[in-house]
Amino acid sequence: MEIVVCKTKEEASRKAAAMITAAVQKNPRTVLGLATGSTPVLMYTEMAKAVKAKKVSYKQVKSWNLDEYVGLAGTHDQSYRYFMNKNLFEKIDIKISNTHVLNGLAKDFAKECASYEAAIKKAGGIDIQVLGIGSDGHIAFNEPGTSLSSRTSVVYLTPSTIKDNARLFFKGKEAEVPTRALSMGVGTICEAKKIILLAFGKGKADAVKGMVEGGVSQFCTASALQLHKDAWVFCDEEAASKLKLKKYYAWRSETILGA
Ligand code: F6R
Repeated sequence: MEIVVCKTKEEASRKAAAMITAAVQKNPRTVLGLATGSTPVLMYTEMAKAVKAKKVSYKQVKSWNLDEYVGLAGTHDQSYRYFMNKNLFEKIDIKISNTHVLNGLAKDFAKECASYEAAIKKAGGIDIQVLGIGSDGHIAFNEPGTSLSSRTSVVYLTPSTIKDNARLFFKGKEAEVPTRALSMGVGTICEAKKIILLAFGKGKADAVKGMVEGGVSQFCTASALQLHKDAWVFCDEEAASKLKLKKYYAWRSETILGA
């Protein structure tokens, strides 16, 4: 796991976006795994800037998102499909038919999840998976206690995630946050060829510590990334503040990126 410690979230977002831009320039048919939440928004803005500047095109890129709330239609302004359209897809030249988000209104969730996984496989697997991290160490909606080999399925949100997400998406009303979601599993995520996780702010410091320096445990599902051979964590100083070897990670990743 490479930890890129940046002074600000702006710098971290620029660096992560540059990594994705370079990958898409190299392989215009890149398959992306994408995340929602407040964390990747700046990175998406940077990716869109590169498209506007004609440095890169997403015309042949395909994407699969991590998760979606159960019970929300893609047109609902708090659905993750809506979020992706507004924060990225409408700002780049990707074909909307090449973008995939789980259907929170599917009649048969098991079938929806199985066909989502099959479609990813048919596309050749995910080349780069973007992730945020929950304050409880979750990736996608894989809450503490989820098997590290889980697959895409219906999952149940913890009270702490409901609280966090109410702040971001539901004008503070916890009662309005769905308690279930469809989510890629930890096992599914770890099959991506490269992983880019973003973490900003002191509210993520404990989660980042657990992910990087804690044991591999289903109590912090992000810790599964320790077993991934090409996982990159882009964080700001605050999110990295509890890491024991923070300076070493920063020096090492700078050396690798600069080489
Ligand atoms: C979003 C997702 C979640 C978020 C995490 C952090 O698709 O899968 O795991 O990445 O909850 O959310 P923010 O970025 O809002 O702090």
